Parts: sequence; C-alpha cells; structure tokens
Amino acid sequence: MKRILLDTDPGVDDALAFLLAFSSPEISVEAVTTVDGNVDVERGTRNARQLLEFLGRTDVPLARGAAHPMLKEMGSAEDFHGKTGLMDAVLPEPKMRLDRRSAVHMILDEVERLGKELTIVAIGPLTNVAAAILADTDIPRKVGGLVIMGGSFGLTSAGIGNANAVAEFNVWHDPDAAKLVFNSGIPTVCIGLDTTMFPEYRMSRALYAEMIAPKTKRSKLIEGLCGALVERYNGFSLHDPMALAYVADPTMFRLERYNVEVETRGEHTMGMTVVDRRRFAGDVNKKAAHQIVVEVDATRFHRMIADRIAKGG
Ligand code: BDR
Ligand code: CA
Repeated sequence: MKRILLDTDPGVDDALAFLLAFSSPEISVEAVTTVDGNVDVERGTRNARQLLEFLGRTDVPLARGAAHPMLKEMGSAEDFHGKTGLMDAVLPEPKMRLDRRSAVHMILDEVERLGKELTIVAIGPLTNVAAAILADTDIPRKVGGLVIMGGSFGLTSAGIGNANAVAEFNVWHDPDAAKLVFNSGIPTVCIGLDTTMFPEYRMSRALYAEMIAPKTKRSKLIEGLCGALVERYNGFSLHDPMALAYVADPTMFRLERYNVEVETRGEHTMGMTVVDRRRFAGDVNKKAAHQIVVEVDATRFHRMIADRIAKGG
C-alpha cells in the first residue's frame, strides 16, 4: 500500500486524478493540500472539498496552501480549465470543513508521522513542497519520495512546453519553488509532458466515449469535466492521472535518470526543465536524484483509466 499526501490545484485533470487515487486499492490518500495554480487557491480548495464530498471521503484531512508563487507573478490556466477550474462540472455547495493547519504544517506533520512510508504526490506547482523543505531541510532524507506531474524534458517528440515554447505549466507557474525542490536532493519521479502529451497516451475520443457511456453519477461528472476539452482538442492529455497511475502501478512505466535544472529567468525559457544528455554528463546523471518517465504501456494505462476513473475500481 502506498501512503500518499496529494498536493493539488484542482483543475480538470486534477479532478480525474482524485477519481483515480480514491479508486486504486494500492493507494491510501492520507492527506490533501491545495496550492495556487490552475485557479486561485480559494477556488481550488473549494473544488477539492467538492471532490472529496463527491467521493464520500470527507474523513481525509484537507489543508489550504500557498496563495501565490514564491517570487513570480501569479498566473492561471482558467482559459483551459474554465472559470471554476472544473469546466462544466456542477457539484453541490461544499460543507466539508478544512483542517486548521496550513498545507506546509500538514506536510511537516505527515512527514513526521509516516517518514519513509510517505510519498508526496504533487500535481500542481511546487510552492507548498518547497516551503515545507525550507521549514525542514531534512524532508528530502526523511520522506519516501516525491512524484510530480511537471516538467518537459525534450526526451521524446512530445517533450515541448505548454505554458511557453519549452516550459510545462506547473514548473513555469513557480519556477523558483521547482528549482528549490529539484536541488534539495529529494528522490523524485517526474511525469512530464514528454509522456502526458505523447499522442498514444492521451485520452482519445473512443476512450472518452467508453468512459461516459454508463450514464452514472460518475460518468456525468467526467462528461462535465472533459466533454468540452475533448471536442476542442480532439482528445485530452491525462497529465495528473498519469502521476497517480505511476503510484498505483510503476511497472507500466520506463524511467531514465537525469539531473534536472530549472530555468527561473530567461527571455523565452522561464520554467524550462533542463537535462544534459551530452555523453560527459553521464556521471552527474547517474548520481542524480531524479527519474523521468519516458515510456508508458499505453494499453495498460488506458485500461486503468477506463476501469478506475470511469467505473470506480
Ligand atoms: C499541468 O498543469 C495543469 O494545468 C494541469 O492540472 C497539470 O497539473 C499540466 O501541465
Ligand atoms: Ca494540476
């Protein structure tokens, strides 16, 4: 059983990641923290409350996190995820109470409580994780690991940017936080655009049609979340669910080890995640704490998405 803290900026694909996490028998979600990203943290926290209520999991502690990136100006992805962050999905007014702690305190407490048994799964900008590492610089050695949806590494033909020509949104949104996290030595697995945007791994129209066919409460939520995006983009990149799929079953993924540097400034490259593939960088890469997903078993991945996100197990 993988015990995880889910750090999120819900977000359409974050919502799908919730559905996957809570229907995976290999995963126990111990806590959820929210962060400014796709939408502002108030809105994102409201979305997280609605999703936990939808899933009947109000027993999971939920803490609000950073309202702003560390240094950079705020940005959002409302043009993609819609004004509420959940596109056309409509969920009841949430009643669930928030934990009194901040996200950083919750991360610190969970690291103390679970130590190496805890994996932090960050599917939004890394502001909370970076702030927690600043508060306790031993986190990288205390925790089991960090799985992030983030980065774009140029390791596949899909590894180009989505926030600008070369940067992925989560890293671009708070590049200073990402730099701090990557330089902290925390063992990291990165699910980046190299695989999430790879055509074969996206949600196709056929997979979407299969997922909304049952006409259940769950399939109607998926329709509200994804329908317009599937139409607009002829399919859908399963960014955040892929990170949860990795946690549930890492045997579907092939990884390569690289040192990762983050471009925090730059005229055209802010938020770029840089890996050095030159032969003489081999020794640095061999010792690096970061592994990047470069290949996915598309058939097994899509089966997991259809069976768990759509059907709930
Ligand atoms: C990432 O950015 C957000 O818009 C998505 O929720 C995902 O976490 C993809 O670049
Ligand atoms: Ca996200």
